[in-house]
Amino acid sequence: MKKTITYGKHFIDQDDIDAVVDVLKHKNLTQGGEVESFENAVAEFVGAKYAVAMSSWTAGLHMANLALGIKKGDSVITSPITFVATSNSVIYCNAKPVFSDIDNITINLCPKKLEQTINDNPDVKAIIPVHYGGVSCDMESISQLAKKYNLFIIEDAAHALGARHSDGSMVGSCKFSDMTGFSFHPVKSIAAGEGGMITTNNYDIYKTLLRLRSHGINKLDDAFINKELSKTKETSNPWYYEMQELGFNYRITDIQCALGKSQLNKLDTFINKRKYLVDRYDKAFSNLNFINPIQKEFRAVSSHHIYVVRINFEKIKKSRAEVMNLLKNAGIITQVHYIPVTSQPYYANLKYITEEYKNSLEYYKECLTLPLYFSLTDEDQDYVINQLKGVLE
Ligand SMILES: Cc1ncc(COP(=O)(O)O)c(C=O)c1O
Repeated sequence: MKKTITYGKHFIDQDDIDAVVDVLKHKNLTQGGEVESFENAVAEFVGAKYAVAMSSWTAGLHMANLALGIKKGDSVITSPITFVATSNSVIYCNAKPVFSDIDNITINLCPKKLEQTINDNPDVKAIIPVHYGGVSCDMESISQLAKKYNLFIIEDAAHALGARHSDGSMVGSCKFSDMTGFSFHPVKSIAAGEGGMITTNNYDIYKTLLRLRSHGINKLDDAFINKELSKTKETSNPWYYEMQELGFNYRITDIQCALGKSQLNKLDTFINKRKYLVDRYDKAFSNLNFINPIQKEFRAVSSHHIYVVRINFEKIKKSRAEVMNLLKNAGIITQVHYIPVTSQPYYANLKYITEEYKNSLEYYKECLTLPLYFSLTDEDQDYVINQLKGVLE
């Protein structure tokens, strides 16, 4: 059977399997100690005070917006070059996602354009910068804007567990934001099957997220509203709980968290190998003017989630579809990250989106994601490089 080289893939070793089997055999499958243990491990890794894990980062994004009080009448700014989940989360809260074009070099929100977008939208309450490909946005500039205009920041770090901001601080430390969220979908830095986590240094946000994750039911030391119902004489009623706000079942299982925690132990190894492969790609393409790897200036601080090249398909006189199909015939799966969210029919139907996102559209026309994952061998990578060169030359 012909081998297939995918664009991204998780890596599972015996430690991961043992960690999961241990939960299956000896521990609670859900609402046990593995969730908190994984939360503590991630909080410590990124240097944040608190962490809350949930069923997916999409669920996390929904809760993050709610925790900031985002509601009907509010607007939230994000990038067109992201996965639809980022802006969908704003719509879940009946608020309005507003888009600001990317910078051509970082492929992230452009602080200068962002200030213009803020000025054009008086209802803006928050910004969701997306650390595309594992490269942090210019968070110093974005947080200065947030302070100037009194806005919240939720960092979408689905691609960026293990990445650093330009000042060397870890993405997730929330040095420049109210919250940061990660995804543990199998193509991400570490896998938990599905799963997400939010880090924050704000105790009130932390407590709100814990409640929203589990139906809006009070937790730990939350004060009861009906104090008289919570006690018989002076003794606490053991069955008593209160739902004080509308929440969800966005919980993650202990099985997933055991896997996530075991994977976290390997994160540095994963990122180092990705960096090694990225350097090999960079070297292989360095003399070819028709293949332009993106974000080359940020190799030292990136988590290397994806390896994307820009190709002027018009100039090489082959369409991207042709190139992708030729590679597919050779057993190589490539991808496109992303179709601008603003071009999706659902968003195009939101009649207020009238702006042309020039850089995002141009980027979309040219981008191609090549295979990059921990277990990609030198030999397979050389095969990808040679096939791509062959197809393009
Ligand atoms: C930028 C971005 N934001 C949000 C998400 C949603 O994360 P999840 O799949 O954990 O719900 C993803 C996942 O692909 C993503 O890439």
